Amino acid sequence: MSEDSERLIEAARAVKERAHAPYSGFHVGAALRSTDGRIFAGCNVENSSYPVTICAERVALGSAVAAGALAFDRIVISTDAGSPTPPCGMCRQALSEFGLDLEVLSIGSGGVRSRWILQDLLPEHFELTKRGEGGADD
Ligand code: THU
Repeated sequence: MSEDSERLIEAARAVKERAHAPYSGFHVGAALRSTDGRIFAGCNVENSSYPVTICAERVALGSAVAAGALAFDRIVISTDAGSPTPPCGMCRQALSEFGLDLEVLSIGSGGVRSRWILQDLLPEHFELTKRGEGGADD
């Protein structure tokens, strides 16, 4: 594992500690790397009105986009789950906006790892078609 990858993994682990998850008790950290080498971290932020909760992956993505990063090569997800968890469907769709080649690495308790490519996790992502491209308004 390269030093750069270790940094990304450490960022995901560190931000997991900041998760606001008083309802589920499930702490998630995500670290998203832009192709220019920057790292954007996010944790899940739960809310007393449950559906308002934001996942760690989308917090990281929002932070990246707000900083002007739009191209990514890898996301690391860190949890305390026994088996590494893939991103939820909503996060898959959110990430797919910026490319399907994204490598997704998830690390559970004890360092057990799973790896996917976003394309395989979301083979049919939604894309809004423009007029003249076969969209609903044609
Ligand atoms: N969660 C994430 O942060 N990322 C995912 O991909 C799935 C779920 C969070 C949301 C909620 O705070 C907790 O995990 C339990 O669902």
